[in-house]
Amino acid sequence: MLMRLSIINGPNLNLLGTREPEIYGTESFEAFLVQLKERFPSVAFGYFQSNEEGKIVAAIQEQSQSGTDGFIINAAAYAHTSIAIADTVAAIPQPVVEVHISNVFSREPFRHHSYLSAHANGLIAGLGLEGYALAVRYFLNTFQEQGH
Ligand code: DQA
Repeated sequence: MLMRLSIINGPNLNLLGTREPEIYGTESFEAFLVQLKERFPSVAFGYFQSNEEGKIVAAIQEQSQSGTDGFIINAAAYAHTSIAIADTVAAIPQPVVEVHISNVFSREPFRHHSYLSAHANGLIAGLGLEGYALAVRYFLNTFQEQGH
């Protein structure tokens, strides 16, 4: 059975590739996603990016209700500010892996706290875009352990 995973990216992640490349690298998320799909053919990926908090809340709710198997969420700056997105993560039944491309803990103190971490199954930070692939691996392992 195909596993369904929803990737949710927050503000400014549409600029990956050109945005502060010394921190976030030179690859766009769209280009990375093409490779991710090739690397994990047994996963059906959903992808949503928005610069707007309420649209991210709505997308997580919708993809949860549509029966996705899990979420990979990089809420970007909203991780540090948004109680609304944290509440949505707390409200949904699916497992969530929080991803940050950069090592938020080696950066400014305001990046050290994420409201949604407490409701996520785990957190991957500082491993670049590869963090998304590691999250996929985690989901594949747990999905297989559950006998799918
Ligand atoms: C980020 C880290 C956040 O602090 C920042 O606001 C982002 C990207 C990351 O992926 O490293 O926009 O979530």
